[in-house]
Amino acid sequence: MAFDAEIRQALIEQVRRFVTERCIPIEAKVGEEDEVPQDVVDEMKSLGLFGLAVPEEYGGLGLDMETECLVALELGRTSPAFRSVAGTNIGIGSQALVLFGTEAQKEKWLPGIASGDLIASFALTEPGAGSDAGGLKTKAVRDGDHYVLNGTKRYITNANKANLFTVMARTDQDEPGAKGVSSFVVERDTPGVSVGVPEKKMGQQGAHVCDVIFDDARVPAKNMIGKEGEGFKVAMSVLDKGRLHISAVATGASERLIKEMVGYAMEREQFGKPIAQHQMIQAMMADSQAEAYAARCMILDAARRRDAGESITMLASSTKLFATEACGRIADRAVQVFGGAGYITDYGIERFYRDVRLFRLYEGTSQIQQIVIARELMKAANA
Ligand code: CAA
Repeated sequence: MAFDAEIRQALIEQVRRFVTERCIPIEAKVGEEDEVPQDVVDEMKSLGLFGLAVPEEYGGLGLDMETECLVALELGRTSPAFRSVAGTNIGIGSQALVLFGTEAQKEKWLPGIASGDLIASFALTEPGAGSDAGGLKTKAVRDGDHYVLNGTKRYITNANKANLFTVMARTDQDEPGAKGVSSFVVERDTPGVSVGVPEKKMGQQGAHVCDVIFDDARVPAKNMIGKEGEGFKVAMSVLDKGRLHISAVATGASERLIKEMVGYAMEREQFGKPIAQHQMIQAMMADSQAEAYAARCMILDAARRRDAGESITMLASSTKLFATEACGRIADRAVQVFGGAGYITDYGIERFYRDVRLFRLYEGTSQIQQIVIARELMKAANA
């Protein structure tokens, strides 16, 4: 069901105002200090941003995908760190529970996730299992009414702040692929769970990723999400939605970069006129606009189809592939239009250039999106 149009518009305007007034003015500081200030995080909580995709009956805003994407497009207009603070609660940290959780699991955790009192992370990737997520090695061995978890997860967003993790672990040790995997909610204070120090990264300062280590961590069997052996499908369904959300964040960044490049090109004069009057600069502005618009249309079409109950595996991958690759090209053109000013830190363009590089990697690399698209095409051809 589509979200009420007036409420949707009011929410988008509220988020736009928040981004313009509270985030953009401090995005350089967040980049330097590698932290989003707590008062801004608290404001995000009071705006309901942590609970965008949690149903209303569990305290969230219960947005449909189209509205969530419109909000993500707004959040994308500033440093991705702001979105990231709430990003795992909005998406990969909450959606296994939303989509596959039991009533008891939802009642226990979703209200805290929606309010932001609980930070929820998603622990799929491992040192030896990135793109080949089905090859993960973290073990979950049944022992009475618990599973005992051992293994290491890598690059886990918000792990240093997390109170709970959706963890994919192997419950069938004789099945090395996707079929042997199950999903669990693991609480951070479970004995045997520890979190590494935040990694030093190329960009997206203010958003943190760490290792999460399980050393004989005893997790109640009732914390399993979905059925035993179906954890990989749980993870992939969560990622279908996450990939659309990331596309919207990336496209918000593209639109911001276009605004910056046009503004600069209209002011900066060379050869006796603003560089925006030179056709080679115009070509970069125009190509960027065409690509960002195409990405926006793809995002909204895929989101509406998901809201209508269609499977969006191929559309989400197509959208992420196009939107994030386009964002990379647009960030590169923004540096080019700014010239030397784009390369020094004062204008923030180089920071965006570094930040947006991650969009092509996380929640599935561009090459993984290509694989998913090709497989879905062949599946449809065989149907
Ligand atoms: N929805 C539901 N089920 C799905 C699915 C989907 N989107 N995709 C696959 N499945 C099912 C398949 O139907 C199959 O089930 P059956 O055997 O019953 O048919 C099962 O899952 C296994 O699927 P595949 O055979 O396709 O599995 P695979 O091992 O070949 O892997 C892959 C497929 C697409 C390459 C997958 O491993 C993948 O997406 N890899 C990328 C992982 C990824 O995105 N990681 C990001 C981590 S999160 C992150 O980055 C955020 C952060 O915090 C940093």
